[in-house]
Amino acid sequence: MTIFGTRPEAIKMAPLVKALAGREDLESLCCVTAQHREMLDSVLEIFSIKPDFDLNIMEPSQTLSTITTKCIAGMEQVLQTARPDLVLVHGDTSTTFAGALAAFYRKIPVGHVEAGLRTGDIYSPFPEEMNRRLVSDIATLHFCPTEQNCRNLAEEHITKGVFRTGNTVIDAMKATVREGHRFSDPRLNTLGEGERRIILITCHRRENYGAPMEHIMKALRRIADTFADTELVYPVHLSPAVRRTAEQYLSGHPRIHLIEPLDVLEMHNLLARAYLVMTDSGGLQEEAPALGRPVLVLRRETERPEAVEAGTVKIAGTDEEQIVRMASELLEDPDAYARMAHAVNPYGDGLACRRIADAISWHFGMRDTPPEPFGV
Ligand code: UD1
Ligand code: UDP
Repeated sequence: MTIFGTRPEAIKMAPLVKALAGREDLESLCCVTAQHREMLDSVLEIFSIKPDFDLNIMEPSQTLSTITTKCIAGMEQVLQTARPDLVLVHGDTSTTFAGALAAFYRKIPVGHVEAGLRTGDIYSPFPEEMNRRLVSDIATLHFCPTEQNCRNLAEEHITKGVFRTGNTVIDAMKATVREGHRFSDPRLNTLGEGERRIILITCHRRENYGAPMEHIMKALRRIADTFADTELVYPVHLSPAVRRTAEQYLSGHPRIHLIEPLDVLEMHNLLARAYLVMTDSGGLQEEAPALGRPVLVLRRETERPEAVEAGTVKIAGTDEEQIVRMASELLEDPDAYARMAHAVNPYGDGLACRRIADAISWHFGMRDTPPEPFGV
């Protein structure tokens, strides 16, 4: 049984749900918590996934405690009814942690997709770093995207049931990125025409709420003011805390476009046309490098060092001056830009879901060999 609830989990679990459904040797069930509603449903629709169970827990301005308790209570019922042999959770959200804990309470083994990411700081990202650590302790199977992720687990003495699979987001991108994509919002079809450069923005992390987010927004406005050939496109997260801040600092500027969240097809294709990405999102740090788009990370650290090492991602932090300085360098200096703008795929090869499904079959004794690790 796959369990997920937010937009990023849905994007990364969708190709796995499809891969599991296509297997003769496995029966696949899908449970969504709907920690996100509209942003989840949009992904389910694009990938034609009809969940078997839907806990529908989302409420406005939900707290970490309400998400977690509603998920655990709902999952208890679902697990009692469905009695799966394995539960699969993804990444580091409240749904992830609650899903794993609910399975543990019923002594159902857990497989953790996107395992082994670490920053080393339990308050950043908050609460995600702690969620993924706790799930690592609960899980029996750990599907790590990269070698670094496997090493992180080994340092915590987790060496059994660890598979290096690549990240399923690269599998998802195979289905979404298309040459000549036409956007449903006509503005997006013309924004990057001529000499104009699209800067794609997202910013939503809880640890950035308040002063850090205000500094980020001020920096973005200064960048738009300084570089007249840029168009800043910011699909704003539906979180009320995020929307208030974005509106307050960025509205009313002719070249800053605050738009509604894009569906994943539109988002990946916009990414393919962006000149630069500025984001605190985890998923975008994996997707943009695959398309050769430089990323400035609007956080103090990252659990995804691979693309930093490959040179396509830099940590800009949340200090206004530093963000302006780093973006200006990329916008003014073609050599600095060229050094970052090359496609790298340290996170996957598009075969992660097959490896995960094979590893599950092997775990249950239905295959003689484990899958070949990603990156060999
Ligand atoms: C959560 C995840 C975070 C992930 C992010 C992805 C946790 C602890 N955090 O962030 O890891 O990066 O999702 O987006 O699980 N809302 C809607 N409709 C939607 C989605 C959200 O209205 O479809 C609004 C609701 O008012 C909701 C609020 O957004 O209360 C915040 O959603 P929430 O899941 O609590 O977001 P985060 O915890 O910030
Ligand atoms: N995304 C999207 N529409 C948007 C913004 C983001 O489809 O308007 C996608 C993005 O391409 C990536 C995922 O959502 O696949 C990232 O999710 P998010 O930033 O919400 O969470 P994170 O990755 O930080 O956990």
